[in-house]
Amino acid sequence: MPDAISTTVQSVKDPVMSAAQFDRLRKIIYDRSGIHYPDNKKYVLESRLGRRLVELDIEDYDQYVSFLTIGPYKDDEFQEMFNKITINETSFFRNEPQLDVFERTILPKLIESRSAVKRLRFWSAACSSGEEPFTLAMQIHRSLGIRLQDWKIEILGTDISEKALEVATSGKYTDYSLRTTNQLIKQRYFSQQGLYFTIDPVIRSMVHFELLNLKDRLGAKRFGKFDVIFCRNVMIYFDDAMRGQVVNMFADQLADDGSLFIGHSETLRGLDTPFAQIPVPQAFCYQKVASKPVM
Ligand SMILES: C[S@@+](CC[C@H](N)C(=O)[O-])C[C@H]1O[C@@H](n2cnc3c(N)ncnc32)[C@H](O)[C@@H]1O
Repeated sequence: MPDAISTTVQSVKDPVMSAAQFDRLRKIIYDRSGIHYPDNKKYVLESRLGRRLVELDIEDYDQYVSFLTIGPYKDDEFQEMFNKITINETSFFRNEPQLDVFERTILPKLIESRSAVKRLRFWSAACSSGEEPFTLAMQIHRSLGIRLQDWKIEILGTDISEKALEVATSGKYTDYSLRTTNQLIKQRYFSQQGLYFTIDPVIRSMVHFELLNLKDRLGAKRFGKFDVIFCRNVMIYFDDAMRGQVVNMFADQLADDGSLFIGHSETLRGLDTPFAQIPVPQAFCYQKVASKPVM
């Protein structure tokens, strides 16, 4: 019979994932979210999910697959799993040269072209804990200045991770989220209480958050059309098929003169989409072009 110590050690040890179990799990994850685990990333999934199995006191991955796919808790477990496996790394004013292109080139043109309707809509897709949509709100706030009161500005932030969206909704951040933010912005748009920085209420009120899986094309449709979509640093986790689906979904959700910003290590090259890159270095910005000819 095992003694108490060895039992404890056993129960906290991460279970081992076999190659077959890896294949089953990565297919389930891909089908549900489009997140693709290549052959050499088994250890990543194992280290992230191992903790979840320990929390659930589940001893092996076959049991976990059943828990995830059959029975009353399966939807909740998918959410728990996404909370564990998604990489939520982000910061305010992440990749400033690109944001400068948004603020100095794209935004002024939009403000001019929408001056009659005075309505602009932005979508930060896969926004993690909200730093990206709040950054856009700050840029729009300082660009419009006093004119903001005459405009209807809507900024939507969506993500697959409920946990990340909880932080976003709170509008409360630590210094780590502000590591790429200059002092002037910190003073103007945040108030500090101890270790926490809270977003200015005006900026907070400009952004709305919703849970959305980028696989859910119909779910995205209900948010209507946008003038600009930011989708940065998530498509690196997708394969070409999923990237193609997501980017074409963005094309459907964009106004005819809308723009799409992607991450600096991402590209639309090789994908069949109605976008052309704007020729500005560091922009990683694409303009929607005339509809694709019907085949
Ligand atoms: C690295 S963060 C990027 C955050 C922000 N866009 C940025 O660039 O700073 C990637 C985010 O993508 C989200 N994500 C991954 N797969 C997703 C999916 N299928 N649908 C929606 N969000 C997803 C993750 O939860 C994570 O918060």
